[in-house]
Amino acid sequence: MPEPRPSPDALARAVSLADLAALAERAIERTAWDYYRSGAWDETTLAANESAWKRFEIHFRGMVDVSARTAGTTLLGRAVAAPLVAAPTAMQKMAHPDGECATARACSAARLPMCLSSLSTTALEEVRAATDGPLWMQVYISQDRGFTRELVARAERAGIDAFAVTADTPAWGIRERDMRNGFRVPDGLHIVNLERPGGPTGHAGVGIGGALSWTIDASVTWKDVELLASWTSKPVLVKGLCRPDDVRAAFDSGARGVWISNHGGRQLDGAPATARVLAACAQAARGRGPVVVDGGIRRGTDILRALALGADAVAVGRPILWGLGAGGEAGVARALAMLAGEFELAMALAGVRSVEEIRSLGADLVRDAVP
Ligand SMILES: Cc1cc2nc3c(=O)[nH]c(=O)nc-3n(C[C@H](O)[C@H](O)[C@H](O)COP(=O)(O)O)c2cc1C
Repeated sequence: MPEPRPSPDALARAVSLADLAALAERAIERTAWDYYRSGAWDETTLAANESAWKRFEIHFRGMVDVSARTAGTTLLGRAVAAPLVAAPTAMQKMAHPDGECATARACSAARLPMCLSSLSTTALEEVRAATDGPLWMQVYISQDRGFTRELVARAERAGIDAFAVTADTPAWGIRERDMRNGFRVPDGLHIVNLERPGGPTGHAGVGIGGALSWTIDASVTWKDVELLASWTSKPVLVKGLCRPDDVRAAFDSGARGVWISNHGGRQLDGAPATARVLAACAQAARGRGPVVVDGGIRRGTDILRALALGADAVAVGRPILWGLGAGGEAGVARALAMLAGEFELAMALAGVRSVEEIRSLGADLVRDAVP
């Protein structure tokens, strides 16, 4: 049985994301915790995502006047407080009853973009109403193309600012803890944006895979990305890429940005850590649109490393869920403040004053210790 939520005092005493994770673990149901933390199969990619960032050393500069520095930047035309995005994660109401709306409010207060999962437990319109900050939405291209087209149109009408179409999920990855736990969508929660008259509710069966299998499609190709991009005037990013040729294909298919990701190690186990493929992918994206990267970002120093390797912004998945589980909106705010605060401090300690400066210093600032 979960323990009561930590007190505001306990939340305030958490000094790192790892502390927040420990608080969240005690406060949410075991099956939900396992769903959030798991990676696919042997979880090698899950582990590599975190450790790979640490291989990159930060060759800090001394005696630079860093008294005036800013973490602020622009992303898809919007000014943001830091190059940091809340990644789309499914079913946030399992972490806290306020779910996706709590995340949206914390992100907008921090002036950071949120990307809503299409597997959210809150209607996209309700999440949009909870924030006036940048709100993106992740989509899968469904077997029912008409449904996806209507979902995109509905989201655009509601005021979604950008779409991230997931490329790493032609089939659901296997997470063995969920299989052992017989994980299913908890009673009372619904994958509301994907409900259709007469269709399965996402509630039936073991796991979410079976009931929602129609929402993904193993036959999806770049032609479908082209189609999706033609359905909306909003920017489309392709999320879940690890190869430069795929980065080029994404832009050739009408994407306005790319998102280097392996789904937090939840899809193909054995996929490379994103830190290892970022530089080559960013090179392929040069001059064509922003590069977002996620997977194992846990410290402000990881953000600095990612920018020096060519990213325009990073995204975090689990850290948001830890904040949410530990303290709802206040917990997410705490997670975001930790990351942004650490990044700002890392900038000072590294002798850099802006996101642009980190990006232009690149390999002069951040080098692979094991080339
Ligand atoms: C519990 C959970 C649910 C997720 N759900 C989705 C999803 O619905 N759609 C998607 O594109 N990515 C999903 N992701 C992947 C995240 O968007 C992101 O790529 C990943 O979490 C980043 O790694 P990190 O958790 O190490 O920060 C999910 C990740 C987790 C941990």
